[in-house]
Amino acid sequence: MGRLLICSPDYYGIEYEINPWMRVSNAADPQKARDQWVQLIRVLEEEVGAKLERLTPVPGLPDLVFTANAGVVYEGKAVPSRFRHPERQREEEHFERWFAEKGYQVITLEKECFFEGAGDLLGFPDTWFGGYRQRSDIRAYPQLSELFGKEILPLELVSGHFYHLDTCLCPLSGGELLYYPPAFDSYAQTTIAHRVEENRRLVVPQNEAERFACNAVCIDTHVVLPSGCPETMSMLQDRGYTPHPVELDQFLKAGGSAKCLTLALD
Ligand code: ARG
Repeated sequence: MGRLLICSPDYYGIEYEINPWMRVSNAADPQKARDQWVQLIRVLEEEVGAKLERLTPVPGLPDLVFTANAGVVYEGKAVPSRFRHPERQREEEHFERWFAEKGYQVITLEKECFFEGAGDLLGFPDTWFGGYRQRSDIRAYPQLSELFGKEILPLELVSGHFYHLDTCLCPLSGGELLYYPPAFDSYAQTTIAHRVEENRRLVVPQNEAERFACNAVCIDTHVVLPSGCPETMSMLQDRGYTPHPVELDQFLKAGGSAKCLTLALD
C-alpha cells in the first residue's frame, strides 16, 4: 500500500500557458522548486511511509513532474493519458514506456478521446469520480468503467482554475470527501451530495481552495497538503487525520500541488 510514482523537477518550469495559473512571465525558481519537491518526498517517505518509484525526467518536458497525469493504474492495468494540449502530448510516450517496462498491462482508450489520468479520475474503493469538460472527455468514463469494473460518476468541471478533478476534490481513506463545490456544475454538486452523506462532506473555503487545499495525498490517516490551509487542516484533524503541510508555491505557478506530483500505483 502507498506506492507512488514521482518524477524529479530537473526540467520543471513555466514554458507555456495551458491553464489560468500559468504565466511564462511568472517563472518558477528552479532551486526553490527543487527544495520544495525534496521536502514533499521526505514527508511522503519518512512521515507517511509511502514507497516511491521514480520516472526519469526528460529535458523539454517541464510538466512531466506532474505524474498524476501519467494515466490511471489499477490491479496491474495501466491506461495512459491522452492529453488535450499538444504541449503535454509529448509526455505520453514516456509515461507509456514506464508502465510497459514495469510490467503493467497497458490498455489504450479509443482514438481521439482525451483523458488526463489520475488528475481526473479518483474515488473511494467502490465509487469513482471522473472530471470532464476542461481536460478529459466524458466519453472516456464508460470505457474505463467497463475496463475496471467500477462505477464512475462523471462530474462536470466549470472553472478554468480547477481544470482537473484533483484540484477541487479529494476522497479520504475514512470515507470523507474534501471538496470545493463552486468548481462543479449544479448537477455534479447534486451527484456528490447523493453519494456522500452530508456529515462526510468537508467543504474547503475559497481562499484555501485557491491554494489547492484539495490537491492532497491521503494515505491511511495521513494527509499531505499544500501549506497555508489552516481551516482545511483543522477539519482534517477533527476527523482524526494527521495533516502534513508542505510549501509548494513554485508548483502552483504551473497549476499543480502535492497530489499532482504523485501517481497512486496501488
Ligand atoms: N501545468 C500542468 C497542466 O496544466 C499542471 C498539471 C497538474 N496536474 C494535476 N493532476 N492537476 O496540465
